[in-house]
Amino acid sequence: MTTRGVTRRGFIWSAAAAAGSCALPVLDSSTSLRLRQNEAPQNSRSTNVPLKDRAARRGLLCGSAVTQTHLSHDSAFQAAVAAQCNIMVPEVELKWERLRPTPDTYNFSSADWLSNYAQHHHMKFRGHALVWHEELPSWFASYVNPQNAKPLLLDHIATVVGRYAGKIHSWDVVNEVIWPPDKRSDGLRDSPWLRNIGADHIEIAFRAAAKADPLALLTWNENWLEEESSLGDAKRTFLLQHLKELLSRGVPIQAIGLESHLIGDHKNIAGPHFKEFLSQISDMGLKILVTEMDIRDFNLPNDIATRDQAIADLYYRYLTTVLEHKTVVAVLTWGMSNKYSWTATFNPRADHAPVRPLPYDADMNPSPAWNAIAQALDNAPPR
Ligand code: G3I
Repeated sequence: MTTRGVTRRGFIWSAAAAAGSCALPVLDSSTSLRLRQNEAPQNSRSTNVPLKDRAARRGLLCGSAVTQTHLSHDSAFQAAVAAQCNIMVPEVELKWERLRPTPDTYNFSSADWLSNYAQHHHMKFRGHALVWHEELPSWFASYVNPQNAKPLLLDHIATVVGRYAGKIHSWDVVNEVIWPPDKRSDGLRDSPWLRNIGADHIEIAFRAAAKADPLALLTWNENWLEEESSLGDAKRTFLLQHLKELLSRGVPIQAIGLESHLIGDHKNIAGPHFKEFLSQISDMGLKILVTEMDIRDFNLPNDIATRDQAIADLYYRYLTTVLEHKTVVAVLTWGMSNKYSWTATFNPRADHAPVRPLPYDADMNPSPAWNAIAQALDNAPPR
């Protein structure tokens, strides 16, 4: 991972702006105001117009991953979610580890709570994820084998998807199933599902989900698609190959989820190969969702104004590139507030400074990232 200096923009967000009044940013004397190609435009957006309304004006959905714990225990967080989001996705509550305490039982208490919360707040609700190699219950490895894996998966999909049928906007049917580093000729991840069911576990899952909820937008969700890198190229190529083959046989794949966990100092994000990939996905008649956006700042400078600006610039440049495609139907961040971001645990900074990957800071004030997302939504072509 190369470390590159971030250009010092000299824009210092005043306390007033951070407090959501969004007064114009204060220029330091040494910097002339000049809009560079890929930098977030600077005229602040009034936070009086929530992101969900900006998105709705463009025919888009905008929202976040949430947990029952944070929504039910943090009123400021809950208020921001209710104010800003018209779609939400459980960060952990619809994963096997939470839903399946034993091979024969289900625990829907947290997922139901979140589904009811979404309905009560007139938000769309996403499901994440039916087939994933992580967050599997402790009994899974010793219990699952080639004889029982397929019926277990089919029962899970029929039960879980069936339970929320008509209440779910879209399901991540498969998540991160392409992993070229596993060196398979088909590029698939050597996961427990692949080992116990075979490469057709993807088709089996999509067909079962379509049967259980014909209205849900069935999504193939993937990470590491956004960079101009050998991994990015390989993942995009393998995904397109599988899509062409599966769609030609009528497998009901309807959308692609771009996880969009971007790395703040990477300059090879959303380049020409990625743009071409989005066009190819759109030409296949598939919808596109930005499903888990955040910007990891572990290699960005400690200075908060500089770091926030680099993060805002990347949010703006990435979303502007993606939203050019009218097949994009939703933009979700993987959390609303820096204080609850998974990156604090999984990608902490070496200097132990708090991470700042999301649109709200730890005090639930909108950060420059909020402004960049607002601007990208405002500038998006209507769907
Ligand atoms: O809630 C328990 C808590 O009771 C327990 O004390 C604690 C210690 O073990 O664990 C807590 O559960 C953790 C859970 O997050 C809630 O915070 C799990 O251990 C931990 O594994 C889980 O991590 C989640 C991870 O997926 C695995 O499910 C992250 O929050 C979540 O942000 C992350 O999200 C993934 C997407 O699903 C797929 N794409 C990448 C993304 C980031 O890794």
